[in-house]
Amino acid sequence: MDKKLEIGEMLLTEVTIQNRVRELAWQISHDYEGKRLLVVAVLKGAFIFVADLARHLQVPAAFDFLAVCSYGSATASSGEVRILKDLDESVEGWDVLLVEDIVDTGLTLNYLTQSLWARRPASLRICSLLDKPARRQVPVKLDYCGFQIPDKFAVGYGLDFDGRYRNAPFIFVPAECLTEGEKGCD
Ligand code: PRP
Repeated sequence: MDKKLEIGEMLLTEVTIQNRVRELAWQISHDYEGKRLLVVAVLKGAFIFVADLARHLQVPAAFDFLAVCSYGSATASSGEVRILKDLDESVEGWDVLLVEDIVDTGLTLNYLTQSLWARRPASLRICSLLDKPARRQVPVKLDYCGFQIPDKFAVGYGLDFDGRYRNAPFIFVPAECLTEGEKGCD
């Protein structure tokens, strides 16, 4: 049996996340009143966020999902991502809201927005729960952003540690991922 991951630092509590998700949903509901909203969530990380967000939306919405992964390290700098699962339906004419759990370098969103614009949606906006601006390599315009976080290894609420812990209802830095300096500050 694996040892359970120890919380090194709590970044965002469950209550903090839920309050912010509700605020984002209100804002999105207001902005998309009378529009043809299609929410496109990027798997796997966004599955928890989009499910909570969806339950607070006050406008009718359709949902679709993309699963992506980055190409190997040799080509990572190109920012090209591999689509593991494409959308089920055409986005043409829809007001698309692309939902991510986190924007880091921005390479994934840069690729996905180009790919989606080519499919002729009526509009395209981006919503990300988390933004790590310190890691950005390409500019990304976030229309809706939950929280800016520091450049630390964040886990929980969709974000994994070695494939697990996505189901944690809060976001934390594992103890083993804290820097030596941070450990000394406790
Ligand atoms: C994460 C996240 C974004 C991407 C952001 O996905 O969900 O899709 O990384 O990074 P970037 O801004 O540097 O491109 P990840 O590759 O961890 O896959 P997962 O969502 O399946 O965990």
